[in-house]
Amino acid sequence: MTFLQRLILSSVLTAVFFAGCETTRDIQYDLEPAAHLEAMWFGGVELDYVTVLFDVEIDNPYPVSLSLQRLRYALVSDGHTFLTGTALDNVTVPPNTKKALTLSDQVTYVRLLRALGGEPGSTIPFKAELTLSLDAPRSGWINLHAEKEGDIILPESPEINVEGITYNAVDVVYVPTPQDVVDKMLEMAEVKKDDLVYDLGCGDGRIVVTAARRYGCKAIGFDLDPRRVEESLENVQKNNVGHLVEIEQKDIFTLDLSKADVITLFLLSRLNVKLIPQLEKLKPGSRIVSHSFAMEDIKPDKVVTLISREDKSEHTIYLWVTPLKKEAGE
Ligand SMILES: C[S@@+](CC[C@H](N)C(=O)[O-])C[C@H]1O[C@@H](n2cnc3c(N)ncnc32)[C@H](O)[C@@H]1O
Repeated sequence: MTFLQRLILSSVLTAVFFAGCETTRDIQYDLEPAAHLEAMWFGGVELDYVTVLFDVEIDNPYPVSLSLQRLRYALVSDGHTFLTGTALDNVTVPPNTKKALTLSDQVTYVRLLRALGGEPGSTIPFKAELTLSLDAPRSGWINLHAEKEGDIILPESPEINVEGITYNAVDVVYVPTPQDVVDKMLEMAEVKKDDLVYDLGCGDGRIVVTAARRYGCKAIGFDLDPRRVEESLENVQKNNVGHLVEIEQKDIFTLDLSKADVITLFLLSRLNVKLIPQLEKLKPGSRIVSHSFAMEDIKPDKVVTLISREDKSEHTIYLWVTPLKKEAGE
């Protein structure tokens, strides 16, 4: 090996050695990166979505940039985790700096409301637990943890305008009942061929269509949302039950229920309660079945819980037989 070749090799080895030292120094650096959760808050409430925002400060004491790739979060209230999610963002934290940033995710308003069991505007104590995954050149992934406890105020629901009338958007959110839960609701209501079944807020019409197909009875589905009415009409047509089932675009709070024998509901509890004056006008012996939501102060005649094969979740069905009975002590 010539002198020149030896010189080149020695310079290359020196460069490799120092590069190696730098890597080692990164990992052994005295100060570790850290994350602080300064605040968690709800941003804009869209028709169906709420934006959850996290104000985070990342302290990068390393002489290299850190790249934030992912934030995983869990929100805990009253000992149970009510919301988890992932926010993906690609933010660079320069060497030797503290960087304040706001990371966001979107959750459906109904998911948030159901998870917290609260009314819009109510205050809920919470703990937010964050894991921030950062990519550090040469030393690989670093997971930083940050927590914060506090109170959150559930944002008010946005409003929706249907044919000139303004409604609370959450009240009219559409979530279908799994088919096996529909079957159980109708079984609990002991539907007969001569019955008239009303589904108040009929969604895609699955309950009224099932009642007609399975029991040969007449049924009417009511919904405010024109999209749901259209879907229900298609469902009726597809199942050839047009001679038994009607679909009407109506506000359920304007209906006279006195002709119905069976009422099916999958509405929030407060809407069930709002319906009581109308339900009290049902004929004696009429049956009301509600998926998931009870009716405050009114004692159910039967409550059944089942696990749906469709979503593997537990569903509760309430049955009331008229006349409605107040809970004891009311
Ligand atoms: C949770 S979905 C239930 C759909 C269907 N009953 C089921 O169980 O699959 C509630 C439905 O009620 C409708 N709704 C809510 N408030 C209403 C009102 N005031 N008048 C008519 N429909 C309403 C919504 O548009 C939505 O389609």
